[in-house]
Amino acid sequence: MNYLGLSNKKLKTVAQSLNVLLSSYTVYYQNLRSFHWHIKGDNFFQLHELFENLYNSAKLNIDEVAERILTLRFKPLGSMSDYLTHSTVEEARDEMSDELMITTLINNHQQLIKNMRKVLKLASEVNDEGTIDLIAGFLGEIEKNTWMLDAWKSKKFNPSIM
Ligand SMILES: [Fe+2]
Repeated sequence: MNYLGLSNKKLKTVAQSLNVLLSSYTVYYQNLRSFHWHIKGDNFFQLHELFENLYNSAKLNIDEVAERILTLRFKPLGSMSDYLTHSTVEEARDEMSDELMITTLINNHQQLIKNMRKVLKLASEVNDEGTIDLIAGFLGEIEKNTWMLDAWKSKKFNPSIM
């Protein structure tokens, strides 16, 4: 039943872009888990907890993205090999300094922001407001988290400007 009142053909590109976002988000989620386990040094307690908060939030958003694809009557990707093929976020190494972990996450966020903007553009072309509403919320959240990571790094590298 076409309960959405939108053309299935038109929604296909939206679903494909959501699958790219789902893939990137999942690789990013695993990067965070790895960082949570492998963080060392002076900032351990702060960053160990921060990474956990970020992956818990990512976990909820990943589920919403997959279920949006199902709501649009398409199939969310489910295997790690599919995620690695379609993700624009790269798998991170596990041996990194805390500063490099933060830089890597900022880069991952830039990819997620790019994926989200693509979804929003395609969804607006086919009047898919349900997808726009969902993803715009995630976009604002990740933009804010990116500002915080960037602020942490700025303080770290430019104490003289404070
Ligand atoms: Fe833990």
